[in-house]
Amino acid sequence: MSGEGALSVFAHARELERQGRSIIHLELGEPDFHPAAPVNNALKRALDDGKDRYCAVAGLPALREALTVYLQNTRNIKVSANHIVIAPGCKIALFMAMMALLEPGDEVLYPAPGFPAYPSITLGLGAVPVPFELSERNCLQPDPDGIAAKITPRTKIIITNSPGNPTGTVYTDAVQRRIADLAVQHDLFVLSDEIYARIVYGDRFISMLSYPGMEERTLIIDGFSKSFAMTGWRLGYAIAPPRIVAALNMLAVNTYTCVAEFTQYAAIEAPRRSRGRRVANGGRVRHASSAIYPRPQPRSWLSLHFSRRCVLWLG
Ligand SMILES: Cc1ncc(COP(=O)(O)O)c(C=O)c1O
Repeated sequence: MSGEGALSVFAHARELERQGRSIIHLELGEPDFHPAAPVNNALKRALDDGKDRYCAVAGLPALREALTVYLQNTRNIKVSANHIVIAPGCKIALFMAMMALLEPGDEVLYPAPGFPAYPSITLGLGAVPVPFELSERNCLQPDPDGIAAKITPRTKIIITNSPGNPTGTVYTDAVQRRIADLAVQHDLFVLSDEIYARIVYGDRFISMLSYPGMEERTLIIDGFSKSFAMTGWRLGYAIAPPRIVAALNMLAVNTYTCVAEFTQYAAIEAPRRSRGRRVANGGRVRHASSAIYPRPQPRSWLSLHFSRRCVLWLG
């Protein structure tokens, strides 16, 4: 496996701050607001009420129910609470999903540039990462023909990430439909990382779960970090077809047992407050990547490339 550049730069920047330097952070994708007051108040209440015990492995039923309503309202997808597994962070949900699906030698198609964990986890599980390019020529959209050309009998998963890190690209309906068709045609899983689904600026976000034939082969990875400004709470979830949910629960049993009870009680307040298509607080995300590619559209976007050093020198 390999590390994550953003986390190394973050650690270095924090050390410089400890030494008294003033740093502008552009490395991690972190909203520049904090969780809504009702969420924080619910956390205090949960602690006062003694919600500090072991709890259900898959997550509190009330939180999973709240998520089903939220997903229906904001993403127009119907999922059962039984298909949701709460995890300590989106990254753990991603890791468990890949562990549940992959055998050594399987191939995983993933977007490049993309979130570094995709190829790293793939390699860690003895599988083979196969990048598909998001080129500037193609407005940073995946090219379904290019993806089709890379599918082999060993391909197991196509990873999608819309809106994407680091490009900010919201995949078009046509592109997603073609990817869904490929998944059905070749009997593949789609791992749809939808952590930025609520951070869209005018584009239309459609979940990969919405397309025909996708219910039985889509795993959605999402969490509270970005949409609800709860990065440090370490709270994510996977939505999976029933045949995979059992494997995710087995992995949870054998690793973290359950997510902190008080965190989950408080988190119920976050999706409850969300109705529209955008992030609840109308907030902004301080993120180098969203500064790089705002709303990519043909001939109308600006590309700024920051180097790792440039970010540090700002301090
Ligand atoms: C695309 C993508 N997926 C997953 C994650 C991880 O989210 P979490 O902090 O909830 O583990 C991030 C974090 O930056 C991300 O950008």
